[in-house]
Amino acid sequence: MSESVLKAKSNQHNLVNYEETYQNFNWEEAKKAFSWNDTGKVNIAYEAVDRHAENPDKKDQVALHYVALDRKESLTFEQLSLKSNQFANVLKSQGIEKGDRVFLFMPRSPEFYASFFGVLKVGAIAGPLFEAFMEQAVQDRLEDSEAKMLITTPELLSRVPVKELPNLEKVVLVGEAKDISNGYVDYHKEMDQASDQFNIEWVDLEDGMLIHYTSGSTGKPKGVYHVHNAMVQHYQTGKWVLDLQEGDVYWCTADPGWVTGTSYGIFAPWLNGVTNVVVGGRFTPEAWYGALDDYNVSVWYSAPTAFRKLMSIGEETVKQFDLSSVRHILSVGEPLNPKVIYWGKKAFELRIHDTWWMTETGAQLICNYPSMDIRPGSMGKPIPGVVASIVDDQGEELPPNQMGNLAIKAGWPSMMRAIYKRPEKYESYFLNGWYVSGDSAYRDEDGYFWFQGRLDDVINTSGERVGPFEVESKLIEHEAVSEAGVIGKPDPERGEIIKAFIALNEGYEESDELLEDIRQYVKTGFAAHAAPREIEVTEAIPKTRSGKIMRRLLKSRELGLPEGDTSTLEE
Ligand code: WT7
Repeated sequence: MSESVLKAKSNQHNLVNYEETYQNFNWEEAKKAFSWNDTGKVNIAYEAVDRHAENPDKKDQVALHYVALDRKESLTFEQLSLKSNQFANVLKSQGIEKGDRVFLFMPRSPEFYASFFGVLKVGAIAGPLFEAFMEQAVQDRLEDSEAKMLITTPELLSRVPVKELPNLEKVVLVGEAKDISNGYVDYHKEMDQASDQFNIEWVDLEDGMLIHYTSGSTGKPKGVYHVHNAMVQHYQTGKWVLDLQEGDVYWCTADPGWVTGTSYGIFAPWLNGVTNVVVGGRFTPEAWYGALDDYNVSVWYSAPTAFRKLMSIGEETVKQFDLSSVRHILSVGEPLNPKVIYWGKKAFELRIHDTWWMTETGAQLICNYPSMDIRPGSMGKPIPGVVASIVDDQGEELPPNQMGNLAIKAGWPSMMRAIYKRPEKYESYFLNGWYVSGDSAYRDEDGYFWFQGRLDDVINTSGERVGPFEVESKLIEHEAVSEAGVIGKPDPERGEIIKAFIALNEGYEESDELLEDIRQYVKTGFAAHAAPREIEVTEAIPKTRSGKIMRRLLKSRELGLPEGDTSTLEE
């Protein structure tokens, strides 16, 4: 355990007394910030956008600064409200109703955010998909969710197997589309004709608003289902953890295809009424430092993999930019190495605050706050209103310093309410009243939590969660591959890289070309981030007698560790 502590600045106002807040806070208190607490009329889009657009002091404030290589645009809260009203009218005219699943498959753009809120305003459920997904990944998600509509771009349309998707009634195309035929809707044309006034659909706090697909160790991706009630926690953690204040300019680097990009790239900042920066396009250190500098970003939420990349290019680059506006930095997605925190202290003269949560948890749960001493390597402490613990496999709590399952007392506002159409999968997360995360960790005597690793085979590569099963399934679709086992291999920059072990079919010889072809096959058929960086050909993949791939064994062999229990290994 690390003994070093990074002290909070004495003038930090936020959560001044953590212990006291933790003792006294309950979620009922947080609800008072919302208009529905008085009116009973609920919709997260109203609280995040329209409420500010109706406020004379706020309506002309920039809600969104969008910047990409070839485009720069800003929208005020009023403009975002009107544009999302227009899109809500388009959706209505296309027959979209409350509860329908509407998916968005496109790069970040002002149109994305207007469409996203349009979907929420009609009471439909939004499903944002990462733009790098290829055909199989897109199909799996639209099929499972029985999506009625997809909003995409003409460029990405070739990756949508429209004919394989009987429930998909409409495709909205954002951008110059050559032939708009049956079932296709021209975004810009429809928007031009649509009214910018819309009567928002009031919903119940427990009504669906968002589905994010995420990976487990087995089976197809899971549709993690979130409800409007999550806003209470988005808002409150925005205050406590992001420390958002009037006048802040906030930037979360995550894409809304992942939960960080919605909970903290959309909801937390806008529920708190701050200006939000969105940077499109690929990561380059210059573009990122440039965005911090150009927009005078004050609060910055990113990920260890990005910090490590910035660290690797050295401090000279940092010095070319004026980053004096930045006052608070946060991290999520994978373990934040103490080395990165110390680098951050030097490069930015600020602490980097680690936060822990998951797609399923909907919002931050265990965090470091501005007012808290940081123990580098620790994820921090549970936010007020949340009880976290370490439990054994029977759901019994373990004493400090013992490693076990990181678990949360079920029932916080932003918790997923279902795994779409898979109740048994949903139930499998819970034990003895605890939500069991799948991470192992311990808690020290002072209540700080320390991440140890995943307990399942899920891979975390550059902060992206990849299920080995999906990659294996794609690999064996390649004509040369008979069997495949996929693991995460530790990597200093990416956290883990994907390594595949494959057995070849009769008649195929190992060659660099073949392995590259197999890699490309996953990359273009499934998703670039899921393509194995390393492929090793072996005679056979170790399996249990019941036929389960023993990834644990592949991993210990790869790392030169003891093989552990191999009693179930197939002869
Ligand atoms: C898994 C969840 C919702 C945030 C984005 C990732 C890992 C997340 C941390 C952290 C160590 C972390 C865990 C978790 N993880 N934050 N601060 N330290 N590991 O969401 O894709 O659902 O992945 O990411 O293993 O279970 P996700």
